[in-house]
Amino acid sequence: MLSRKMIALFAIPVFFLFLNCGESARQATPGKRLFGKLQNGKEVYMYTLKNKNGMSAEITNYGAIVVSLFAPDKNGKMADVILGYDSLKSYERGGAYFGAIVGRYGNRIGKGKFTLEGKEYQLTINDGENHLHGGKIGFSKKLWTTDSFDEHSLKMTLDSPDGDQGYPGEVKLTVTYTLNDNNELEIHYSATTNKPTILNPTNHCYFNLTGNPENTILNQELMINADKYTPIDNEFITTGEIADVAGTPMDFRTPTPVGKRINDDFVQLKNGKGYDHNWVLRDYNGKVREAATVYDPSSGRELEVLTDQPGIQFYSGNFLNGMDVGKGGIHYQHRTGMCLETQHFPDSPNKKNFPSVELKPGQTFNSTTIYKFTTK
Ligand code: GLA
Repeated sequence: MLSRKMIALFAIPVFFLFLNCGESARQATPGKRLFGKLQNGKEVYMYTLKNKNGMSAEITNYGAIVVSLFAPDKNGKMADVILGYDSLKSYERGGAYFGAIVGRYGNRIGKGKFTLEGKEYQLTINDGENHLHGGKIGFSKKLWTTDSFDEHSLKMTLDSPDGDQGYPGEVKLTVTYTLNDNNELEIHYSATTNKPTILNPTNHCYFNLTGNPENTILNQELMINADKYTPIDNEFITTGEIADVAGTPMDFRTPTPVGKRINDDFVQLKNGKGYDHNWVLRDYNGKVREAATVYDPSSGRELEVLTDQPGIQFYSGNFLNGMDVGKGGIHYQHRTGMCLETQHFPDSPNKKNFPSVELKPGQTFNSTTIYKFTTK
């Protein structure tokens, strides 16, 4: 005879087995898994994109964050070339915007104020006295809706209500990530609004092409396709000036190691605590063109950034200080990742000489950025 205790011992594991079956039945889509639950109990998913060359990208619908991106080195060895966290909890807590889509306004708006059609708006303040990357609860801290997913492509939408972080109008932003067989991760943005508003979304991946974020990015060779950049004050707000890179440490027209001049006695490098500036890309005409390249001599990996946007923020990971514990328990030290954020110029709503970031009802914002991986 089976004792009650024995029945209980048998029943408990069977019960959990059933629970698990329910879980996997719900996540039957290949390449989709539960990433975790937010503090509010909502489920968040992780999607894996692949291409025929063995590249892969893991992307979550929390913040539309690229969590990992595996790219080959010159010997075909794959490694994760972006920074990020292992757990959803860390993304909920973190303040570095690892891999996320940031918005509505990527980058800074001075004092979080701007005037649109005669009306002044006050946005949330989250960076000293200024507004950064969409404010206190920007797009990187929201749960996106997944519209479609297959092995190569993931489409997500965020519905940002009228008044979100102080911005006027309800904005619907759709982001589609596609990993194609040319080793390109393409990001397509599409957005509409029901009232005049401003919009400047971008992706905030931190790249380290060595594939080992214990290395700094200082030996990686950067080229930026720009003759000019937008200088900043000591609060990182653009001054409105459009300055020549020629004869300064901001000149990346030919590939130059990031670390070569980063500590030069140059006021802009002091203001930015390193590189944390927007470059004015050549040939802004609505077409996708080359914006920047990064080459890592140790692995042979090269990243090419292409975009239709007028600018690119090159941020050399100056605020990384070892406090963030990333994937695999690695503490991300100073300058171990770099961002190349394709965008409109910082604080454009307050700078009449910068291209406009307004979006009106009836218009559709469309933009494409490509991160392409090669080796040499
Ligand atoms: C950016 C900004 C930096 C910094 C990082 C996040 O790209 O330009 O100044 O705020 O985001 O740490």
